[in-house]
Amino acid sequence: MRSEVTELTPKEQDYARSRLAALAEQFRADGTLRSPQWEQVFRRTWRHPYVPCYYLDHGAGPLISAADEQHRSQWLAAVYRDQSLVTKMVPTPARKAGWYTSSSTMPSLMLTMLQALDLTDGARVLEIGTGSGYQAALLCERLGSAQVLSIDIDPELVELARARLAASGYTPTLSVADGAGGYPEYAPYDRIIATCSVPAIPVTWLEQVTPGGIIMADVRGPLGGTVVRLRVTGDGSATGRFLPRYLSFMIIRPGPETFFPARPQPALPESMNDSISTVDPTLLSRDGHISFITQWHLPEVTLGPAMGADGQPGTQLDAPDGSLAQVWHTPNGNGFLVRQGGPRRLWDRVQEAITFWQHAGRPHYDRFGITVTPTEQYVWYDHPDSNHRWPLPTFRPLDPPA
Ligand SMILES: C[S@@+](CC[C@H](N)C(=O)[O-])C[C@H]1O[C@@H](n2cnc3c(N)ncnc32)[C@H](O)[C@@H]1O
Repeated sequence: MRSEVTELTPKEQDYARSRLAALAEQFRADGTLRSPQWEQVFRRTWRHPYVPCYYLDHGAGPLISAADEQHRSQWLAAVYRDQSLVTKMVPTPARKAGWYTSSSTMPSLMLTMLQALDLTDGARVLEIGTGSGYQAALLCERLGSAQVLSIDIDPELVELARARLAASGYTPTLSVADGAGGYPEYAPYDRIIATCSVPAIPVTWLEQVTPGGIIMADVRGPLGGTVVRLRVTGDGSATGRFLPRYLSFMIIRPGPETFFPARPQPALPESMNDSISTVDPTLLSRDGHISFITQWHLPEVTLGPAMGADGQPGTQLDAPDGSLAQVWHTPNGNGFLVRQGGPRRLWDRVQEAITFWQHAGRPHYDRFGITVTPTEQYVWYDHPDSNHRWPLPTFRPLDPPA
């Protein structure tokens, strides 16, 4: 089976081949591609059959399609650039442009994770989040289709990926399933790689990976996180470090067209106290390390914008226990004005997190790790037995909104 729209003219093929080669060179030069084997796989695997169209500006812009002559060259150029491309949008009342529910991951990000999987021939891999099918194609090219299983919560995506992969000669096992449960039908796996983020590692994954195997996923909460690589041990637990590079994926969803429902605006606590902070609140959305360390100190907190009575922009943190903090973005002479109320002083906790990170010498992500057992999981600093550890919530997929 061939897809007409993504079939390239000879001239387009030359262009795509040269772009793929240029990307491979770039990735070798910047250290992304360290494995000659993965470099060969990358050079051999076209991306364009899996991304026949994408939405500009991460979903905020119009659809750019291979089928549209006017956009054809723009489409092909984008597909062979190192960028993630939003491939599916669904309507949502909360956002005029809708919300994106799938994308083709940035190639350098994908290669960073695939190499960190330490694959050997014959390994069996479960990919959670089939999406466009491009990463499944890379896995099939590396291991052979029989070794690759891939699931997605969205039936439409799975069927599209199946057709695209088959047209390129790949026949992995694809299925529609909620990745929160792994995929017990074909377990055990040597590797599980998730391309949607999770707030904690589902225990089902632990049960479905062989001892010595690897689980890789973006573990994140509302503030931050990045990709962790866990080695499963013989005693039913798994432990390992975050990758050094910051990587981020869309959140795991409980259904094909369900989202994390917007939390209603929390009521202001009865009394709020003012103080001054030297920490710039915009760091929480600008600095990956700051949001990362703060996430583990405040796992249940949601971050959002605040608007002062005078129109001044601010940052708001709120917790399910009714604690709330607002910090205004424009500094006065001494620092940033903070208003806190409720049972806990959330901004003080942010400051503690940042102080910890600064006193530790501003460590990178890979100085931290996660340990998962069937009964608990936590983030640690430096080594798994460290006293510096922060519990993660037990993984519980969200119920679809009513
Ligand atoms: C970043 S995209 C995947 C990229 C993909 N690997 C590729 O190469 O194009 C994330 C995918 O995760 C899927 N997803 C979200 N929640 C899921 C869930 N609960 N179970 C399985 N897949 C899920 C989305 O439908 C989406 O296709």
